[in-house]
Amino acid sequence: MNASEKISTVTVARQLAVALAATLSLAAAAPAWAKGPVPDPAVKDFQRVVNAAYAKYKDLKEGKNADYIPILTETPSDLFGVVIVTKDGKVYSAGDVDYKFSIQSVSKPFTAALVMSQQSPEVLEEKIGVEPTGMSFNSKLALAIYENSVNPLVNAGAIAAVSLVQATSEQDRWNKVQQNLSDFAGAPLTVLEKVYESEYTTAFGNRGIANLLYNWGRLYSEPEEALRVYTRQCSVGVNARDLGMMGATLANGGVNPVTGKRVMPAEHVPELLAVMATAGFYDESGVWMYKAGLPAKTGVGGGIVAVVPGRFAIAAFSPRLNEAGNSIRSMKAIQDIAADLGVGVFGANPN
Ligand code: DON
Repeated sequence: MNASEKISTVTVARQLAVALAATLSLAAAAPAWAKGPVPDPAVKDFQRVVNAAYAKYKDLKEGKNADYIPILTETPSDLFGVVIVTKDGKVYSAGDVDYKFSIQSVSKPFTAALVMSQQSPEVLEEKIGVEPTGMSFNSKLALAIYENSVNPLVNAGAIAAVSLVQATSEQDRWNKVQQNLSDFAGAPLTVLEKVYESEYTTAFGNRGIANLLYNWGRLYSEPEEALRVYTRQCSVGVNARDLGMMGATLANGGVNPVTGKRVMPAEHVPELLAVMATAGFYDESGVWMYKAGLPAKTGVGGGIVAVVPGRFAIAAFSPRLNEAGNSIRSMKAIQDIAADLGVGVFGANPN
């Protein structure tokens, strides 16, 4: 009800004066959100910090390409790209942000999100698990120790997540996984077929994991089907900009900033980010959170995406990895940017 409706006996002029005064005082007291979109206070520094991180680590040669998937040794090791994508879709980048590499494990949280959307977060928790194992991404021991309950970001949990996707056939399962990744990226993503061939023909460890899970009743499709779809998922080609956009969709509460499509329910985002925070770097997750303070996900292709909830994503690509299978320059670049902008979720991290 506005001021003029309350006063029925005074003159029109008086009503207008009262209404005007009320409007002015309301405007003065209006909360920030009522004034329209407020620019992120860090925006003015985005290009500067991206350039600085790129320049600082461009010539770092530490680590080496993954080689247990033979074709990954062929990725030019010097490639390096850094990007910030904001929740309204603005892109700030430096270096090789257009080179397509395989998404690998960075795909895992997004298929977990699909399972949460199709079924529920409870199903994810009960049928896969959400405890960090503190062990490597391909650990078979973790499966036994944790009584088959792992999390959707290690290989076992990610293969189980693919098998949990509701589908009528293997083709339909793949179509749903691919469409979901593309929706997060806001662009059609396709498989790098040579990477798929290279990984599938050498996937003896993952086949063992799929068969163990099936034997224990923790796989929800035929094992070879789950293995094939999982391997295709890991072979999807992305560039650093795509990863940034996928992270920005999470930062934006599950809505892709460019297409405007809701890809997952907003209420599932905090649960997914919690799993990324505790298990996104496998046995290095504690050190990562200590240093970067951001939920993130790595892949042996060299990509990493980190999310500043409600604000933006930072992504990077560099093929040389450390012993835990995490990209060294990508980690360092994202840590620096998080510290420079003071955006760690537990408070500003020192650089
Ligand atoms: O299943 C695998 O071993 C690979 N497709 C993915 C592993 C991976 O990316 C681990 N992350 N750093």
